[in-house]
Amino acid sequence: MDHFTYCKIGLKRLIILFSEFRKIYKQKFTFVVHLMGHKKLIRFNAINTFENVLQYPENMPGQWNQFFKNEHPIVLELACGRGEYSVGMGRQVKDKNFIGVDVKGNRMYNGAKIALQEQLSNVGFLRIQIGNILNYFAPGEVDEIWIIFPDPFLRDGKAKNRLTHPKFLAMYQQLLKPGAKINLKTDSPELFQFTIDTVQEQGCEVHVLQHDIYAKGPVAWPLSIQTYYEGLHLADQRKINFISFSLPEKPIVIPPKKKKEDGQ
Ligand SMILES: C[S@@+](CC[C@H](N)C(=O)[O-])C[C@H]1O[C@@H](n2cnc3c(N)ncnc32)[C@H](O)[C@@H]1O
Repeated sequence: MDHFTYCKIGLKRLIILFSEFRKIYKQKFTFVVHLMGHKKLIRFNAINTFENVLQYPENMPGQWNQFFKNEHPIVLELACGRGEYSVGMGRQVKDKNFIGVDVKGNRMYNGAKIALQEQLSNVGFLRIQIGNILNYFAPGEVDEIWIIFPDPFLRDGKAKNRLTHPKFLAMYQQLLKPGAKINLKTDSPELFQFTIDTVQEQGCEVHVLQHDIYAKGPVAWPLSIQTYYEGLHLADQRKINFISFSLPEKPIVIPPKKKKEDGQ
């Protein structure tokens, strides 16, 4: 056999090996994706049976005290994910009701399951799009809002999706009691600065403004509660920031939509 034939055989074997490897990888990948999908499905079915989870409910404005069977103040955790703040605060503060709000049912499954196991009757979960939140609360029905590591929506065109955009503050203004606090914890410097600017522009009252909350050591409860995303950000050496503010009495001004430049 000449040198050229050797090379040809070698190359053929390499191609076969590569295609076998690809097949195995594809099978394993499909299996993992299938497993993930299966887990999500189990969780979606489970939360359908959880009495502490409401998904896109009707006729809830003004009814939350009936849901909790008491007249205690209502605190919302927006973008709650697994609901660590609702569960953590609900464990300690029995004379308030906590509602974790998120659109992702498979995430809130975690917090809802813990709340059920621990019989935290003052903790509930609401699965909705936060943009529709006014369909679920009556004016002045809410006493405080926590927004914990919301998606920062960094692209300029997406700023309107930030949960501290004036569009959202105007909604919060309707459902919050006058002077109620809004608390934001974020790792995103861009979202934090955007919020500081918005709060200033809208004439909000700032109660606490802290860059890098752990710079001087551990922080006080409830800020010390750490969520799944906070764990990821801390492992990534990211700084965590916090702001607590109240909305002004005057209506929030929503900036007009930016017109697209010609040719864009
Ligand atoms: C980065 S995760 C943070 C989750 C949790 N707070 C944590 O710290 O682990 C952001 C969460 O916000 C939710 N979210 C973002 N925008 C939302 C919206 N408009 N309505 C409902 N949920 C939203 C997402 O589904 C996601 O669970």
